[in-house]
Order: sequence, then C-alpha cells, then structure tokens
Amino acid sequence: MTTARIIDGKAIAEALRSDIARAVASLKSSSGVTPGLAVVLVGEDPASHVYVRNKAKQTAEAGMLSFEHRLPADTPEKDILALVARLNADDRVDGILVQLPLPKHIDAKKVIETIDPAKDVDGFHPVNAGRLAIGEQALVPCTPAGCLILAKSVSPKLTGMDAVIVGRSNIVGKPMAQLLLAEDCTVTIAHSRTRNLPEVVGRADLVIAAVGRPEMIEGDWIKPGAIVIDVGINRVPAGSGKSKLVGDVSYAAAATRAAAITPVPGGVGPMTIACLLRNTFQAACGRRHLTAPPS
Ligand code: GUN
Repeated sequence: MTTARIIDGKAIAEALRSDIARAVASLKSSSGVTPGLAVVLVGEDPASHVYVRNKAKQTAEAGMLSFEHRLPADTPEKDILALVARLNADDRVDGILVQLPLPKHIDAKKVIETIDPAKDVDGFHPVNAGRLAIGEQALVPCTPAGCLILAKSVSPKLTGMDAVIVGRSNIVGKPMAQLLLAEDCTVTIAHSRTRNLPEVVGRADLVIAAVGRPEMIEGDWIKPGAIVIDVGINRVPAGSGKSKLVGDVSYAAAATRAAAITPVPGGVGPMTIACLLRNTFQAACGRRHLTAPPS
C-alpha cells in the first residue's frame, strides 16, 4: 500500500525550464545577451550520448545557444585542455560542461581545473566547491541543487530537520551536505564504512540516497513521515532479457512509510538538466554583472 506523496520531478523540472525560458527571453530583450552552453563529449559511452543529446535539445528549447564538441575516445589530453581554453575565451559561451566519465588516459581533475570557474556550470571546480562550503555565491552542482528543490517542494522550510545523505561523492553527497547545512538542517553523511546504517537512516526526517547501488536502502529503515529523495538510477534485469531502472531505495516498501518520495525514473533525473540550464543562465548574468532574477 502506497501512502507517500509521490514527488513529480518531471513536472517540477518542466515548470523550472519554462521559468528559465521566460527569463532567457527577458534577458535577450533587455540586454541582447543569449546565454550559451558548450558540452564536450569524449568517446562513445552510450549513456553519455543520450545525456548530451537531451542537454542540447533542452538548451535550445530554453532559447539558449548550444555548442556540442564530440571527440574520439583517443583524443590526447592536451587537445581537450586546449579546447577548454578556447571555450573559456569564447564570449558566446557562458557555460562549459565536460561530460564524465572521461576515457582513462585523461586526467578529469586537470580538465575540470582548467574550466573558468565563472563558466563552470557543473559546479565541480574547486573554486565553486570552496565558495559553496563557505556560503558564498557559487555555481552549485546540478543534481544536489535539484534534490533541494524537490525536498522543498514538500517542505519549504527544512530548518532543524535531521538530514541523512547516503553517499559521499564530490558530485552529489558533499555538495548536498553543504546545501542542507545552509538550510539549517542537522546533516549526517553516511557511506560504505558507516556502522549500523539502518539505524542512521532511521533517524532521518530527510533521506538523500546517492550510493549507486540498486535498492540498497530498505523500506523498513525509513522513519515514518520522512521525505525520501532517491538519486540512484540503476539498470537491473527484469526477466526475459529485459531491464528496468530502479533507485537506491527499495521504493514500494519505502513508500508505505515515507510522507513523500521521489520515483525512479521521473524524480531527481529530470531536475539535473533543468538545474544545468539555470546555472547557465546564472553564469551568463554573473559574467556580465547583471542580476539574475531570484530562483
Ligand atoms: N555524467 C553524469 N552526470 C554528469 C553531470 O552531472 N555532469 C557531468 N559533467 N558529467 C556527468
């Protein structure tokens, strides 16, 4: 029996994208600026190709310029660094996203650190990570930014909540912790070495699951009435040669206890690109010292 409210990430992302499209149109007419996003894709990873195609489509739909750079898997690192330097210098480009994972011979850290922090719409550059940590204006990683919007769609004030993040990646877990601290949550980051994970998760008013392991978080770990945000997108066999997507949370069981829960697919996934578009808009305004409307 499902009792939880299902958080409709698809609808919330669509609403955010149409707000951004309106803001882009108004920026164009008031200042003549059209924000531009450059995406760099190296190699043939099929999932990355799907992401990049969706990003380009939604960027154009929001009225922004989209620049795509598809490079072969054996492209030397120095060529990628030179491309990033050219994009840094290109005034039409407000946001630069280098799709991860990169082929093994390329040092992702070096590539990320070459991106101009003012154009770092992934929020992965150490300057943006540092700014977020000390509460300064920053470009914030898109997935945790999307999770925050979804949590606030259920409870606009998160003050005083016990938030437990499962997963400590630089892309999701750590920036998520900073965002929730800034919302005055009491934040715990749990990970693969955490002792007694069910008990830790069971204390949470807000659970952010970002471990990348299918249905690892069991339904009866969830505190009754908690908000559950599931970042996981795991493809698992579904019998007779088919496959399906599941999250990091055992959804059906968790939905009998949670107050609200994100589905997979249709929860956090659609928010990531919407937040990328928001970051691109913010970068376009920030680089020109224009004030972006509040979001
Ligand atoms: N690969 C999967 N998700 C992401 C993302 O948010 N940003 C980048 N750059 N690569 C990814």
